[in-house]
Amino acid sequence: MGNAQNTVTMEKIVSLAKRRGFIFSSSEIYGGLSSAWDYGPLGSELKNRLQRYWWREMTQLHDNIVGMDAAIMMHPRVWEASGHVAGFSDKMVEDTVTNERYRWDHLTNEQQETRTSPNGNPLSEPRDFNLLFKTHLGPTADSGSTVYLRPETAQGSYVNFRNVVQTSRMKLPFGIAQVGKAFRNEIVTKNFIFRTCEFEQMEMQYFVKPGEDEKWFEHWKEKRMEYYRKLGIRPDHLRFHEHGPDELAHYAKTAFDIEYYYPFGWQELEGIHNRTDFDLSRHAEYSGKDLSYLEEETKERFVPYIVETAVGLTRTVLVVLCDAYEEEEVAEGDVRTVLRLHPQIAPVTVGVFPLVKKDGLAELARQIELDLRNEFATFYDQGGAIGRRYRRQDEIGTPYGVTIDYETKENGTVTVRFRDTMEQVRVPVEELANRIRSEIRNYKRVGA
Ligand code: GAP
Repeated sequence: MGNAQNTVTMEKIVSLAKRRGFIFSSSEIYGGLSSAWDYGPLGSELKNRLQRYWWREMTQLHDNIVGMDAAIMMHPRVWEASGHVAGFSDKMVEDTVTNERYRWDHLTNEQQETRTSPNGNPLSEPRDFNLLFKTHLGPTADSGSTVYLRPETAQGSYVNFRNVVQTSRMKLPFGIAQVGKAFRNEIVTKNFIFRTCEFEQMEMQYFVKPGEDEKWFEHWKEKRMEYYRKLGIRPDHLRFHEHGPDELAHYAKTAFDIEYYYPFGWQELEGIHNRTDFDLSRHAEYSGKDLSYLEEETKERFVPYIVETAVGLTRTVLVVLCDAYEEEEVAEGDVRTVLRLHPQIAPVTVGVFPLVKKDGLAELARQIELDLRNEFATFYDQGGAIGRRYRRQDEIGTPYGVTIDYETKENGTVTVRFRDTMEQVRVPVEELANRIRSEIRNYKRVGA
């Protein structure tokens, strides 16, 4: 874990993302908005697939985790109860010469002690800056109409705790999973999509009996690390970081981050939090509703503890792009760019290519592609030399390429080319879908 290395740079990732239609600056034709990004044709596919992958892992593969989708706007009292109105802030300082803003906790000890900015100028006094986006509902902008854009999906699960227990008849321990947009007025947004003001989260709240919280915390900590390994993320680019007392969020008793080794160093990918009974107790207090739980077997009544797993979907997009990116020398002086994305999240699963357009090969290839399309995300490409077509797909992470050539007409076989090894095998057309299905199921990243 200590010797992770990066050959990829953020410049290369941003450039590939733009060039191939993964991610564009928001409102680019107006000069862009640094705190938000637009996901293009390939980026939205990748993000959707990642979301589906998480959803399956965190809901469908469990009997006791259900999904929900709460509104982004909630009753303003939610954010008073949750502690966000009073306490969701970062300390901010300003360079008194350039007016550049910095998060206090992002400065070095020396810069903090000498109150000097990274430019060497004097810094202002640190002051609290609340990250909540505030707006108004309805025609008048008075205090009675204040609403906030949610800074996390979690609260939507807490305020629906009773609804879910009653309608889904869930018994402890059980979880509620959500994916959705979140908004934070971040002091500094940088590193592309790493920290933005508008982002998407994938969070799971696991409600447990008090006293069992530490066991479940350990369980989810391990499970979540395992999830990234299964997704093919390089193990030496992942590590845990335990929050010290000065880092803990206002709601957390214990917290671990799963950190990733980005091109700009180790930073948070996901947070796993033991939120105790803080959230449900506060919502019970502020709403006046009973949010306790009656355990049938023991007839005990208590407020459940919550173990939370919280990750940014958009931040995961950055991680998978950085982790998958490789420049590989395939012959002397010939370097290919390849994204070694897991086949379950790659925007295109199968590229289909006729070797040449003539002699009926294009029509045959198109027919094969249409058949595969029922089950897989396909891309048909008949333009240019076959080697260049392969490279274009390597660069966007397409794991399998199917080529239709003269032999296909003779004996009904096609070539399947594997992105990672560039190996090719001949497969009968009628076995093609089966073969791809089994390759996806048994995928292991080379070298991981
Ligand atoms: N419900 C708990 C919670 O929101 P968090 O650690 O503040 O905890 C969880 O956020 C995850 O959401 C982070 O680990 C990160 O992946 C993502 N995230 C948080 N702020 C973000 C931002 N400004 N831009 C992109 N992703 C962000």
